[in-house]
Amino acid sequence: MAEQAVTDTPVTDAGDGVRRRDFINIAAVSAAGIGGLATLVPLISQMAPSADVLAASSTEIDISAIKPGQAIKAEFRKQPVFVRNLTPKEIAEAEKVPLSELRDPQTLAERTKEGKLNWLITMGVCTHLGCVPLGAGEGEVKGDFGGYFCPCHGSSYDTAARIRKGPAPLNLEVPEFEFTSDTVVKIG
Ligand code: FES
Repeated sequence: MAEQAVTDTPVTDAGDGVRRRDFINIAAVSAAGIGGLATLVPLISQMAPSADVLAASSTEIDISAIKPGQAIKAEFRKQPVFVRNLTPKEIAEAEKVPLSELRDPQTLAERTKEGKLNWLITMGVCTHLGCVPLGAGEGEVKGDFGGYFCPCHGSSYDTAARIRKGPAPLNLEVPEFEFTSDTVVKIG
């Protein structure tokens, strides 16, 4: 298959010498890759993070001071994470949207923990090109759907942080999390 790529490369003008060499290099790497597979597997398993490294990369957040209608920005594995305490009105707004209207269909219940619909925890990373959306900070614009607004290219997320408008393809990601008590959430 790699040899095919070399043969099919058209030779047209000056730049093609370089391109052709690149294909030859790719072919050589692919061939080496097959032979190297057996040794790669144990190498990869050695590289997997140990349990204590994983534990160190989780984040515990005290949520006791976050009032309904408020949100905070925290950090999880060096990326922003939003913790939001939804009001009953925001919950109702999220629940009344038919899934058929959603680009990335998910209910609020699927994005939160049972019995804690009000605690919406998402990454603060726009699913378009990774900007940090507005809406978690005091007084920040929340966009047309009352959730988050990404100022980079105008994506709007609703009160369940689901994408509703703009170029972002997916809802804000919900990380792994659990409540370790009524007032502490552990992310990761
Ligand atoms: S990065 Fe958010 S809309 Fe483009």
